[in-house]
Amino acid sequence: MSEDGSPSRHLVLVGLPGAGKSGTGRVVARRLGVPFIDFDRVIAERSGLSVADFFARHGEPAFRALEVALTRELVDAPAAVLAPGGGWVTNPGVMELLRPPARIAHLRIRPAAAVNRLRRSATVRPLLETPDPLGAMRRLWESRQELYARADLEVDVEVVGRQRLVELLAALARDGSGEVG
Ligand code: S3P
Repeated sequence: MSEDGSPSRHLVLVGLPGAGKSGTGRVVARRLGVPFIDFDRVIAERSGLSVADFFARHGEPAFRALEVALTRELVDAPAAVLAPGGGWVTNPGVMELLRPPARIAHLRIRPAAAVNRLRRSATVRPLLETPDPLGAMRRLWESRQELYARADLEVDVEVVGRQRLVELLAALARDGSGEVG
């Protein structure tokens, strides 16, 4: 931690689509007084395409390559809260690019709850644009749960309230631990 109390390391939020990475990340960044970086938003701004249009035009591998490129750019950047898309963890070696010193938190949510939450979201998730979004979400969970489990801290967002969640994440960024004093 630096002398003014702001963290000296990135905090990365991972988890399924619908886990609340962007909304929570924005609040935690404000609390910590550091920038918030939403990967999907940066990629959309740079490409001039929504994530859905990017997938349709260039495909998932090109999207993953941009996620990795953005991660590399952030290795030496000032501390920030990072919210990559839910599939960022599938890029081999990507966590190791940032950690150490970054800390990674998994916002855990059950696939069914994630699908429910996304009903209120206007953002199109191309990997879930199927007649069976719950089945698709379950398959994402099955293929990713071991990757999410590599996080330093796991918080069940269906159990832990928003205020407590923000406290836990801020403590992880400041002290490197998930303990709130
Ligand atoms: C994806 C999640 C999305 C977005 C893209 C792919 C995924 O981000 O990056 O649609 O593979 O899980 P959110 O997790 O913010 O929905």
